[in-house]
Amino acid sequence: MKKLYAVIGDPIAHSMSPLMHNDLFQYYNLDAHYQPLFVKKENLKEAIVGLKAIGVSGFNVTIPHKTEIIPFLDEVDPLAEQIGAVNTVVNQNGRFVGFNTDGLGFIAGLTSLVPEIQAQNVLLIGAGGAARAIFYTLAKNGIQTLDICNRTVQKATELILDCPYKLNSNALSIKDAENQLQQYDIIIQTTNIGMSPFLEQIPISLERLRSGSIVSDIIYNPLETQLLKAAKEKDAVIQNGIDMFVNQGAIAFQYWTGIMPDVKRMKQNVLDQLG
Ligand code: ATR
Repeated sequence: MKKLYAVIGDPIAHSMSPLMHNDLFQYYNLDAHYQPLFVKKENLKEAIVGLKAIGVSGFNVTIPHKTEIIPFLDEVDPLAEQIGAVNTVVNQNGRFVGFNTDGLGFIAGLTSLVPEIQAQNVLLIGAGGAARAIFYTLAKNGIQTLDICNRTVQKATELILDCPYKLNSNALSIKDAENQLQQYDIIIQTTNIGMSPFLEQIPISLERLRSGSIVSDIIYNPLETQLLKAAKEKDAVIQNGIDMFVNQGAIAFQYWTGIMPDVKRMKQNVLDQLG
């Protein structure tokens, strides 16, 4: 019987996950379908009960359900538990098990540029949900120096205090980070600044950026934010959010099917769609 996969969220119409996964099912000759499902906040619990009743094989979780879904799952992977958010659920013999592949997807994308990330000096901009996923996954994977700057410094401080892994980390204001920007090898941007309605804004001044450093922005719409444009001017190596997006999907696909899919194919597919 055809297997069913899904993504639940609100809004959901513009998700590129169905395109990406349905292409892979076809490519790997799997009798499966991936369906976007519009689920409002107040209907989350009923939606999970329904997905279990119909025997869905797995699903992705997006805004606004990534944190709220946790109590409705049968089991949550320790990393997802630490992050406090689930983006991938696997049906294991009738039990819904939650994972978070966002941080792992980010690392897979980053290591395609820098194979050895552990000894790099890294600055993370932002302290929201995406920053949490990336921070804890980097910390779990042995990053030694990882500072965070955020508009609200207190949120960066809390994120660091909650981290169960040992590393050197300072919570900074944006100004402090700007002043010592030359010391970082890799800068990771996770805030909303650069996407609509903040398209023309830049979250941090790159005046002191060292040439040859890496600037990775997790935004993929637009493909080139103002930050990435400014980084190019400074001769940095830039990366947009497409790599994180396709890699988080690739890891989810592997959890569901056992197949690690062709990430290059996924990336091309998404880029074609974005035009
Ligand atoms: P996500 O899940 O995408 O990470 P989030 O949890 O709402 O979203 O986090 C948004 C991040 O963008 C936060 O770091 C937020 O900064 P604050 O903690 O100070 O709110 C940052 N952000 C959002 N709008 C911003 C703005 N106008 N200027 C600066 N930072 C902003």
